[in-house]
Amino acid sequence: MVFAGACSSDPNTPNKNTDLIDAKVDSLMSLMTLEEKIGQMNQYSGFMDFTGPRPKEGQQAKKLEHLKKGWVGSMLNVHGVENVMAVQKIAVEESRLGIPLIMGFDVIHGYKTISPIPLAETASWNLEAIQKSAEMAAEEASAAGIHWTFAPMVDISRDARWGRVMEGAGEDPYLGSLVAKARVKGFQGDDLSAPNTLAATAKHFAGYGFAESGKDYNTVDIGTSTLHNMVNPPFKAAVEADVKTFMNAFNVLNGIPATGNKYLQRDLLKNQWDFKGFVVSDWDSVGEMIAHGFAKDGRAAAKYAVSAGSDMDMESYHYIEQLASLVEDGEVSEDLINDAVKRILKVKFELGLFDNPYQYCDEKREKEVIGQQKFHDQVFDLAKQSIVLLKNENNLLPLKKSGQKIALIGELAADKTSPLGNWIIAAEDNSAVSVLEGLEKYDATNEITFENGVKLVTSQPTFAQELKINNTDSAGIAEAVASAKNADVVVMVLGEHGRQSGEGRSRTSLDLPGLQQQMLEAVYEVNPNIVLVLNNGRPLTINWADKHIPAIVEAWQLGSQAGNAIASVLYGDYNPSGKLPMSFPKNVGQIPLYYNYKSTGRPAPKGENEVFWSTYIDSSNDPLYPFGYGLSYTNFDYKNLTIDNRYKEEGKVLVSVEVQNTGKREGIETAQLYLQDEYASVTRPVRELKGFKQVELAPGEIKTIEFELTNAELGFYDNDGEWLVESGSFHIYLGGDSTSQLKQSFQITVK
Ligand code: NOJ
Repeated sequence: MVFAGACSSDPNTPNKNTDLIDAKVDSLMSLMTLEEKIGQMNQYSGFMDFTGPRPKEGQQAKKLEHLKKGWVGSMLNVHGVENVMAVQKIAVEESRLGIPLIMGFDVIHGYKTISPIPLAETASWNLEAIQKSAEMAAEEASAAGIHWTFAPMVDISRDARWGRVMEGAGEDPYLGSLVAKARVKGFQGDDLSAPNTLAATAKHFAGYGFAESGKDYNTVDIGTSTLHNMVNPPFKAAVEADVKTFMNAFNVLNGIPATGNKYLQRDLLKNQWDFKGFVVSDWDSVGEMIAHGFAKDGRAAAKYAVSAGSDMDMESYHYIEQLASLVEDGEVSEDLINDAVKRILKVKFELGLFDNPYQYCDEKREKEVIGQQKFHDQVFDLAKQSIVLLKNENNLLPLKKSGQKIALIGELAADKTSPLGNWIIAAEDNSAVSVLEGLEKYDATNEITFENGVKLVTSQPTFAQELKINNTDSAGIAEAVASAKNADVVVMVLGEHGRQSGEGRSRTSLDLPGLQQQMLEAVYEVNPNIVLVLNNGRPLTINWADKHIPAIVEAWQLGSQAGNAIASVLYGDYNPSGKLPMSFPKNVGQIPLYYNYKSTGRPAPKGENEVFWSTYIDSSNDPLYPFGYGLSYTNFDYKNLTIDNRYKEEGKVLVSVEVQNTGKREGIETAQLYLQDEYASVTRPVRELKGFKQVELAPGEIKTIEFELTNAELGFYDNDGEWLVESGSFHIYLGGDSTSQLKQSFQITVK
């Protein structure tokens, strides 16, 4: 039976009318039994893919029965119109009230047409393009019947060992907050009920990116200053952008699992930030509170989670198995259940699911929308902007378009799956343009020879399987060396396979995996004229390459159009403009490494031969490449940094700087403003990003760029989570990365 009582088919009744929706939710809830309400709080993974550990024996079989009883509010991992339709039909036509399911899916960087991995997209620093990329993902995924994406992941991370840095926006909370907003807006659009938008999820609340030693799912123990100033800002920004859902996290935060954390979910998120949407748990994170040593059994886990504000249970089965008896025994108040169900139903109404539970299920649209050329054009555009030029000695790049013998080397150069990166559950393997294809198809007449070189992976695993790296078989190096000998230029595509980063893919070494370093050095011996194109989902430690290789291009995992984008940068038709969203360490011993650190009492530089300083005896403190860094085929110069301090009269400080293109070709520069609050009641970082602007400049052209600083930029969170702006002096640094030395200072007096 289709539930009719709560329908609004009036096209002029936008599903944004909160009062109306609240009334509809209340009227529907008055018809629901306790079990049906709890059913709305229950989410199962579908019958296709698993994006977490497989459920225990027998649980899978219950799903169908529960769907028919109306004991399931949401499914994940069901995609494609036919599949979604089949499951939705059971909920709508066979359950007593016919409440539609909300279908969730990890649409992380595209559905079938794949954008660069989120870390790479962030390297573009182009918020408009990032928003458009989320819009495209929403359009494709919604055409496949999906209503809700578990993205954006807004976890800040300072640890490149953590495999999930590929999924986020890097190490900085200011940039991370703007990217979070752009992605939420892109997914959700202006009207959630439109069939081409998705509800978004800000995840994983909170602290997940600070897993100790970069090991996924590990304990997180951070101070309040870091929590409020580094971890939480992108989540708050997502709320400001009206994100509809939050996902909590697997980790324990300062002794309390995030899933059972009342302070995070109820006090901060729902009360202080006034978040009106719902919180979904992560995969079995309710049940995992038992292994954490927090809940003694499933009953306690369900009680803690719901009390703390986790509204929907993903795949732990504890809500559906325990909540009714917890309510009946008076251990959980029905008010908590009602609050959770209201939040969930509200989002379903906003999505328009009660108007038409099948509105996302249109096979014709599915065929027409998915994989359109315009999406590929858009992805190509963003992929170019995501590339970061790390080194370019003697202008080895751009490559000449004719008369060159190019030796292209490396298994990754021909791989058509790896460039898609991780979290591509719906995309087809072998669907990306490889570097080999990109170069061969390019409008250039060079002679290209390709050598696979040493084997990188010994298996092509699926999303859920571990990838095996070849660490022993050096066959292929000799052929690579031979082909390099005869070449004018060698292009080596090395790095991580796309499935070597992502969830559950933490690493203790950030060196080039397998025998790639050995091959790089062997090739260098015979021909040092090498362009190293890196494919990777996180910062790598590439000291040797930085010292020896003349040109290094950070090309991440750029998605469906990877090879075309890389070719366009190598040949110089696109002048690289990307900037790093994470510091690249010199060695893993420096991790956690981040530009916005706090000064110690004994900051570097130390005096010669002195030891009592905050440094290492075997490494410098500096990163190999700093946050915000990236070169261009032209050069930019910054001058005339001026400050117009109107804080006393108007509550703002105006900053302007001149940027000049001093090179020979046009280019795009991202000017970055960093602020240091010199003395504060809670110590502040040595510098923090507080503004950036992109400018396009012709050769010789100068543009003046302006920034405005108000209390929103000048303050910080104290240890109670209160925003404070304090009197005192501030320093501004302006330039093309986080090490710029162009500096001005000003004072403010706060009354
Ligand atoms: C676990 C991951 O942590 C989360 O990000 C993802 O959305 C869920 N699995 C569902 O696939």
